[in-house]
Amino acid sequence: MNEILQNIVSRRSVRDFKEEQIKDEELRLILEAGTYAPSGMNKQSWQFTVVQNKEKIELLAKVIREALGRDAGYNFYAPPTLIMLSNDKDNTNGLADCACALENIFLMANSLGIGSCWINQLKTICDKEEVREVLTGFDIPENHIVWGMAAIGYPNSAPKIHERKEGVIKFIK
Ligand SMILES: Cc1cc2nc3c(=O)[nH]c(=O)nc-3n(C[C@H](O)[C@H](O)[C@H](O)COP(=O)(O)O)c2cc1C
Repeated sequence: MNEILQNIVSRRSVRDFKEEQIKDEELRLILEAGTYAPSGMNKQSWQFTVVQNKEKIELLAKVIREALGRDAGYNFYAPPTLIMLSNDKDNTNGLADCACALENIFLMANSLGIGSCWINQLKTICDKEEVREVLTGFDIPENHIVWGMAAIGYPNSAPKIHERKEGVIKFIK
């Protein structure tokens, strides 16, 4: 199989991570892949915020739990690395740009045997006071929305495989 397709086909969302941190060189490649994603009008107005501090990831999980009324166990799988994709809220392509960057991140991670999962909970709550305070502490600009996050780490167990739905491709010739 074509090696790009093989990487796409073998990627799965991983929600169970080893505590061991990924290597700096692996992180560098993952971030490079993210920053080479396309962006509307080539604005590249995104920020990639990398959090590799257990207490700070837990603090973020706590304010998300409180803002959304999630149960005490919710910690978006306690990954050793979290990459937060934020963008200028006035950029109408902000979400699309961040989504492209996230997929590049997931695919690069997969190619290195590293697991990843999209974490979606921040996008509607960034301007809640307690949440914004934590984001500001992470140097995320006040005018940014965090459209998505990548939980990243070595997989601790094999992820579930989803079959592809039939009938989603239509040809008009
Ligand atoms: C926009 C978007 C939001 C998602 N949000 C979450 C999330 O908050 N938590 C989570 O565990 N998975 C999340 N996922 C992962 C999906 O659940 C996952 O991609 C889907 O179940 C298919 O599984 P696969 O990635 O293994 O192919 C999200 C995926 C996308 C594209």
